[in-house]
Amino acid sequence: MKKVMRFFPVAIFGLLLVLLTGCGEENLSALRPKGTGAEITFDMMMLSIYIMLGVFFVVAIIFTYVILKYRKRRGDEDIIPEQVEGNTTLEVIWTAIPILLLLILAIPTVLATFTLAAEEPQEGDDTLKVQVTAYQYWWDFNYPDLEFNTAQDLYIPVGEKVYFELTSKDVIHSFWIPALSGKMDTNPGLTNAMWIEAKEPGVYKGKCAELCGPSHALMDFRVIALEKDEFDVWANKMKTAESNPQSEVTQVGEDIFTQSCVSCHAVGEEGGNIGPNLTSFGDRETLAGFLDMTDENIADWIKDPQALKPANNMPGFKDQLSDDEINALVEYLKELKVNQ
Ligand code: CUA
Repeated sequence: MKKVMRFFPVAIFGLLLVLLTGCGEENLSALRPKGTGAEITFDMMMLSIYIMLGVFFVVAIIFTYVILKYRKRRGDEDIIPEQVEGNTTLEVIWTAIPILLLLILAIPTVLATFTLAAEEPQEGDDTLKVQVTAYQYWWDFNYPDLEFNTAQDLYIPVGEKVYFELTSKDVIHSFWIPALSGKMDTNPGLTNAMWIEAKEPGVYKGKCAELCGPSHALMDFRVIALEKDEFDVWANKMKTAESNPQSEVTQVGEDIFTQSCVSCHAVGEEGGNIGPNLTSFGDRETLAGFLDMTDENIADWIKDPQALKPANNMPGFKDQLSDDEINALVEYLKELKVNQ
């Protein structure tokens, strides 16, 4: 048993190593920053790690030197070491060094806090503003100046600060895009603010970082960072996007959508806002934030969303709609896209 226990820390460390190496997937790593906020946080982390390593090595060297030099040798049995009480010089040194180290940590921390603070864009300022609303277990992104919403996929232009206002419709969630910036809580009844600047175009994974219910771990979203001109093209298409079935099947799908879905889900300007806006559903990177966007998954989701994402608020339609009706609905939903 003792032998087994000895391997326990090694096993834990090995497991952590395996798990943490996995964190680099899908642009989800705060250790590979791709945004200004994440870079600032990363630099702060590295600064404290360097200081920590410095302290560790100095202490380890002194420790090793002292236990070797002053160890008990043969014949030392009767010697009583010199009895010392107080040493002003040493005490000044070991008080001054930590104060200095804390200052080295504190000054950039305070400066970073000011840099990361969000200032509300002024009238006439062309900073893009996004209102984030968290729901159990999905995200709504409203672009108030552009007058449209997306859900689950957040589009932003690269190379500029985007200003975010964040709130929640139910419980506390936390908005986190590890590769781009730090976390921000979304609290019901309160609005928090932050800014994010992506430095490179790409798709970044976002997570809910506050335990919010059974499907907390599935409350993922994607950030699509585009070059400014591409973003403008996308935004212009979003402004005019509407339901426009292209075939007989999708026409049937639209009719079913109008009967069964539109009180909760909007397409373009038509529809409710209880569930995610579906205007650009066909462009989405994922289904429900975490599933592959396949016909089968979309159909399974419509039939029984609870089986896939427990405790979400969407009712299942397996008893209300036939397989043909669900297939028509799937075809209709896939057609809802602004990207080619
Ligand atoms: Cu929302 Cu965790």
